[in-house]
Amino acid sequence: MGTVRTNRGIVVGVFARTAGAVLGIVVAIATGTPTTAHAQGYCAPGVPASCEAGTTCEPISATAGLCCPVDPARGTVPICIGPDGPAQATVLSSELIGLLTLAQDPRLAADLFTGPWTNWYYEPRERGLAKLAVMRGILERFNLVDTYVGGEAGIPLVTDPARPSVTCAAGPYARRNLDGTCNDPTNPLMGAAGTRFGRNVALAAAYPDEAAMLTPNPRTISLALLRRRGIAGSGFKPVPFLNNIAGAWTQFQIHDWFDHGPVQRRSHDTIEVPLSPLDPLRWRQRTLSIPRTRPDPTRVAGRDDGLPPTYTNEVTHWWDASQVYGSDEATANRLRAFTGGRMKMDARGMLPVGERGYADTGMRENFWLGLELLHNLFVREHNAIADMLARNYPDWDDQRLYDTARLINAALIAKIHTLEWTPAILPNSNLDIGMHANWYGLNHYTCPPLPPLPGLYPNPVVYGVVGNPDGRNLHGAAFSMTEEFVSVYRMHPLLPEQFLVRSARNHRLRDVVATEDTRDARGRALLQRHGMLDLLYSFGISNPGALVLDNYPQFLQDLDVPGRGTIDMGTIDIVRDRERGLPRYNDARELLRLPRVPDFLTLTGGDERMARRLEHVYGDIDQVDLMVGTLAEGQRPSCYGFGETLFQVFTVMATRRLQGDRFYTELYNAGTYTNEGLLWVEMNSMKSVLLRHFPELADTGLSDVANAFYPWD
Ligand code: HEM
Repeated sequence: MGTVRTNRGIVVGVFARTAGAVLGIVVAIATGTPTTAHAQGYCAPGVPASCEAGTTCEPISATAGLCCPVDPARGTVPICIGPDGPAQATVLSSELIGLLTLAQDPRLAADLFTGPWTNWYYEPRERGLAKLAVMRGILERFNLVDTYVGGEAGIPLVTDPARPSVTCAAGPYARRNLDGTCNDPTNPLMGAAGTRFGRNVALAAAYPDEAAMLTPNPRTISLALLRRRGIAGSGFKPVPFLNNIAGAWTQFQIHDWFDHGPVQRRSHDTIEVPLSPLDPLRWRQRTLSIPRTRPDPTRVAGRDDGLPPTYTNEVTHWWDASQVYGSDEATANRLRAFTGGRMKMDARGMLPVGERGYADTGMRENFWLGLELLHNLFVREHNAIADMLARNYPDWDDQRLYDTARLINAALIAKIHTLEWTPAILPNSNLDIGMHANWYGLNHYTCPPLPPLPGLYPNPVVYGVVGNPDGRNLHGAAFSMTEEFVSVYRMHPLLPEQFLVRSARNHRLRDVVATEDTRDARGRALLQRHGMLDLLYSFGISNPGALVLDNYPQFLQDLDVPGRGTIDMGTIDIVRDRERGLPRYNDARELLRLPRVPDFLTLTGGDERMARRLEHVYGDIDQVDLMVGTLAEGQRPSCYGFGETLFQVFTVMATRRLQGDRFYTELYNAGTYTNEGLLWVEMNSMKSVLLRHFPELADTGLSDVANAFYPWD
């Protein structure tokens, strides 16, 4: 049985650029239970009995102070949070000065490594947080790279010859355009659907090595190193501290952020991967034929010739829940009820069925049961928000109710991802603090709150990113998702080989379903047969797969995709990275400001057998593909579900998604979202959303976990 816990925390990174040096200032505040934090009373400094046990008097002035929770973990090694980990403790504001000084020490960046690996996670908390913050500052400065030209003197204008003049009309109220245009009226196409992916590495390093496209053979890698072991994947390796809602959630999120679009089905421009004579597919074909990614249709001859190959995003780059609503007006309109701001649901409260027999929704690629559950859940949530708004604003028309409910729903999803999903998959106490900083900023947690400090105010991190009118910062690069970000989310090993369907009422086994048989229309059929309640429960109590080698779902290596025949996603994951100019693992580490890994044994953290297997396939450590290297990393930050190379891209992109978006910074206010909307985002969580729509889940283990992505057991 998991322990009920409410962990809240915050880390603040403030970056000042001096002549060539990036300095970090970090302040960490983490509170215990919200009730403790909010129960602070006034006290007299120096009078021992003026605060309750477990709290201490933190002076505000010579004569008055606030009772703040005591931090039992102060100065200790970061601790795992997670279902059975200890609760987060508090750092008092009196410690801030020490932290500020610490994080300004330029030696901190150099001291971030012990051999090839980072060491922030076994430093005392304040120093560990300072190191994380310094690293993020460096990445923001050097690893947000434009793929549009003309940016020398500023942020380049995002262009598309097919849309030469996008104008941003000021409407009666602020709303997100469905296609992502006009988030920034001065750069209307920035972040819009159909615009380019950016990069997290220097453009000179972003060219594909066509000669090495098949070296080593990606199908050999897929079968020898990725494939889950055992008959029908019986060697499945689970993540014990996560549930399958977290796995499905990952794909639900990436479908909001990016999609390279359909491959060229009838193209003759394919990458032919030779099959060995022993390959199980060899009896019917000699190669795996992989159509190339659709080329960038927005390239301008002459102007763009100096760029590496670029690709465009089918969906908006913004965190706007486009997977639920669509990235164009026609899709959105198809899904709307056009009354009360609501979206269409059938008589049973389910999303309408679209083409090919499964949920009609904003993003329908690679659909399966996990996505059915989440898309259905968040359309129900949209309708609940629209109803709430309609009650509060009876004179609003359908359009305004829809637009505002969409904003609120998207912000709630973004908050759940930042404050719940991320600390669940990376349950390290420092990281939990960092993610809270991304959202709230320092002053939300400080005990006592910081005044506007000269030189610090209105820094968005200290004073909040979300909702800070001055919090927006593009760090000199047009906002976009990046190819590196797409690559590190190639988390197909999260998928288990099968699901046990159990009754939420009595835990009785109702069905055993292969994950392969939950795809497309079969997912909808399961939804109709078992109902959302039992399926959510079954996802909530079971574990996704670990992000390690030998754990790639077998069914994805033998996958039938309409129009494409049988494909091996393991092979495709590797080929796509090579095709799109992703540097190999060691080069990527160096470009992302991490030391290179010297040999296979260091990579596997001392696992000699795995090191030999990798060496047998690759021969040279510098040939290891980015995805394979990240899955092979034996040394991971404590409590982490994945390794530090992947985390490096997360570090820079997690804040960026919020900080680059006007709807999370200067427009995140009551005027745009309404007071009720802001409160809705603040008061809700994945758990409350589940319980709102399925109150019966209160009788399951969901009640016992603080974070709905922990296993409900
Ligand atoms: C049954 C479930 C899934 C199926 C059938 C599936 C299938 C696919 C297919 C067919 C592609 C496109 C391959 C290509 O480039 O030609 C793809 C891309 C991708 N998938 Fe999955 N996938 C599933 C679940 C997941 C999950 C759980 C994740 C975790 C985050 C994930 C992450 C990705 C990523 C990052 C891409 C690259 C997208 C892009 O190129 O823009 N997928 N998947």
